Amino acid sequence: MAEINTSVVIGNLRMKNPVMPASGAYDYNDDNPGLFPMSELGAIMLKTIHHDVRPGNKSPRIAETPAGMLNAVGIPSIGIHAFVKEEYLKEKYRPLGAPIIVSVSGGTPEAIRTCCEMLDDSEDVAAIELNLSCPNVGTGLQLSSDEKLLHDCVAEARKGTHHTLIAKHSPNVTNIAKMAKISEDSGADAVTVANTYMGMAIDINTKKPFLGNCQGGLSGPAIKPLTLHKVFQVYEAVSIPVIGCGGIMCAEDAIEYILAGASAVQVGAANFVDPLVMPKVIRGIEAYMEKNHFPDIASFRGLAHQ
Ligand SMILES: Cc1cc2nc3c(=O)[nH]c(=O)nc-3n(C[C@H](O)[C@H](O)[C@H](O)COP(=O)(O)O)c2cc1C
Repeated sequence: MAEINTSVVIGNLRMKNPVMPASGAYDYNDDNPGLFPMSELGAIMLKTIHHDVRPGNKSPRIAETPAGMLNAVGIPSIGIHAFVKEEYLKEKYRPLGAPIIVSVSGGTPEAIRTCCEMLDDSEDVAAIELNLSCPNVGTGLQLSSDEKLLHDCVAEARKGTHHTLIAKHSPNVTNIAKMAKISEDSGADAVTVANTYMGMAIDINTKKPFLGNCQGGLSGPAIKPLTLHKVFQVYEAVSIPVIGCGGIMCAEDAIEYILAGASAVQVGAANFVDPLVMPKVIRGIEAYMEKNHFPDIASFRGLAHQ
């Protein structure tokens, strides 16, 4: 059997395989400790740290849907100042043994830059993902749907850090390829495609919106064909790596994303169904590479564009 190499490089971030959790969709320390060695993951992605202290949204924050889930968690956050002061990275996440990606957000480009500046010195940060796409906070969605605001957010973040910068985009736009190109031109090293799709549920007994926030973001298997298409489009528009995120439930889904052009993938809602899904995705990608005689990820990335 020929050696296979699953490693990928995104900016200065080196991952031993292309699989990581999606932000906010995996709890390393409290809900899932010791299920499998976190060092098996390509990277550890943290839940978004907002610039401000935020309580998050009113409950209910989650609603099940036939093929996924709606969430309106709303980024509860201790704020970037407390996050840095408490040394969470060193104490909670460094021991997990995989490169750490910190997801940050803020209400303005300046607030996002401050988050990046405050993390710039940390040797525990392997990359920063800018959450420019949370549908559940005030300006969340505008950050990656308004062209000027998107440019300003990424450009300010770029001024604030030397770390690898990943812009996470919203799918709730007409032309995500154009928006991803703006991120690239503003200094992003990679783009994540994508966050959740706006949706809602209504309680027919109370006759009111089910979620405390009225609206929420749809994730899970329902969105996979939609986001896969967006990754396919973005791959043709940018030269920087694309990270695919949306409805990945198994290795075959992740492989589809790589064939569409993704350099790496994030697994979100599937973790709630099976907290062991990520190592299964990693093993499944390895088996696919062996079966198809692909020595590395680059040898099948984007092949669907032939
Ligand atoms: C409960 C929950 C919390 C989330 N929190 C965040 C977050 O803090 N930051 C973020 O960028 N995305 C957040 N997301 C979006 C996911 O990272 C991901 O983009 C989305 O769920 C699509 O992937 P999936 O279909 O695999 O779940 C959250 C998703 C869920 C389900």
